[in-house]
Amino acid sequence: MPHQFPNLTVVTHPLVRHKLSVLRDKETSKKKFKELVDEIAMLMAYEVTKDLPLAPVEIETPLETTTEMKLSGKKLTIVPILRAGLGMVDGVIRLIPSARVGHIGLFRDHDTLQPVDYYFKIPPEPEARDFILLDPMLATGGSASAATASLKRSGASRVRFVCLVAAPEGVQRMLDDHPDVHVYTASLDRELNELGYILPGLGDAGDRLFGTK
Ligand code: PRP
Ligand code: URA
Repeated sequence: MPHQFPNLTVVTHPLVRHKLSVLRDKETSKKKFKELVDEIAMLMAYEVTKDLPLAPVEIETPLETTTEMKLSGKKLTIVPILRAGLGMVDGVIRLIPSARVGHIGLFRDHDTLQPVDYYFKIPPEPEARDFILLDPMLATGGSASAATASLKRSGASRVRFVCLVAAPEGVQRMLDDHPDVHVYTASLDRELNELGYILPGLGDAGDRLFGTK
């Protein structure tokens, strides 16, 4: 479906759409839910990394020397937002095994819906790296915006945000607060409910991943 957000890419690959449909189903088990988050993250990583910079390198094949292209620059860094973002890490790492992994700990206060941060650790030289922030859910956008602001405060300037389900409110919040950060999602859902849950959504991603409810 077309949308009006210049900062948003909706990944509409049939495999992603199929897996997301199973993910939304309330009957999907915790084990299956975890597997699907992992698989969708891997498929999305392919799309998200399609404009990474390359540089020429000399390669000796068994037959001759040739100039080919390899990823250039410092190691890409993926940063899950704890907890639910952790479920996306392995899928991305499968495509980019040399990626570094940072962590940002944030939870959304159930009453105020404001993000509360409790952990921040990323690799050195953030100014020289490309960052991919991971969180399955972009709801009000408070958590994504705060995580992006923390990365930028540490010196990061190239950040992408990858989620599985986004609400229009969250995409707009990212556009307002961080217009330079592109958002990738497997679905742009309809709206938030009065408790800040995405509709139709998939429920609480952290609870479904870790079986905490
Ligand atoms: C969920 C989700 C995002 C956040 C999205 O995490 O994983 O981080 O809410 O909501 P927002 O866009 O309105 O900020 P939660 O706070 O439930 O923490 P958890 O992952 O530890 O369960
Ligand atoms: N966080 C979730 O896990 N799910 C939502 O629908 C909104 C925020």
